[in-house]
Amino acid sequence: MTLTRARREPRWQGGQRAAAGVSLLLLASCLAACRLDMHIQPRFDPYAPTDLFNDGRSERPMVPGTVAHGHLRTDTLLYTGRINGVVADEFPFPITAADLERGRERFNVYCTPCHDYTGSGRGMVVQRGFQHPAPPSYHIDRLMKAPVGHFFEVMTNGYGAMYSYAARVSVEDRWRIAAYIRALQLSQHATLDDVPAPERGALAGKAP
Ligand code: HEC
Repeated sequence: MTLTRARREPRWQGGQRAAAGVSLLLLASCLAACRLDMHIQPRFDPYAPTDLFNDGRSERPMVPGTVAHGHLRTDTLLYTGRINGVVADEFPFPITAADLERGRERFNVYCTPCHDYTGSGRGMVVQRGFQHPAPPSYHIDRLMKAPVGHFFEVMTNGYGAMYSYAARVSVEDRWRIAAYIRALQLSQHATLDDVPAPERGALAGKAP
């Protein structure tokens, strides 16, 4: 349709052609100017000096208290493992069976090479020579009594010869691992009293 109509239109005369050429030229120069504007923008390059501000710097200091998006860490227990500066013995969120399961999975990935699947501190890396110092067993009295925030802190900041896991294990996963360590400790130290009363009978006589 459009093709046939275009063909029927009369061809341009000489004068018209010249006028069209001039306007094309004008358009082209205008476009070129626009393009130049895009190249040389009215902005400062990073660290470019300026006399616009008294300190001579084009980049402005951040407003005091500025927080990067997603980095507002008001929950000190969650992020530091402490309450009012004291290592906390509580979790920042309720630990569900799914959290424990996730904790076990992450513990097995990151901690077992040295701490072993039971937390004995006799992981494969230790058996192959990482012994100065070797990790302590999680079942020693001091760590049995340590508040759960201590385990979070050890993972977050590192501890002596052990490096920090903050870059590898998310904040929430560190708490889940801490919960799983508590479960490991219980697994080695449970007494008959920890068994629900109705099931104690089934175990009677089997305790070592
Ligand atoms: C490469 C080996 C290695 C890995 C992997 C490792 N640790 Fe350790 N960990 C150590 C060593 C070594 C120590 C003893 C450090 C010292 O006393 O200087 C230690 C100590 C600890 C302690 C005891 C701190 C105390 O109060 O004595 C805890 C708790 C702990 N690690 C938790 C973890 C957790 C949780 C993970 C996994 C996220 C982990 N570690 C991964 C080597 C490791």
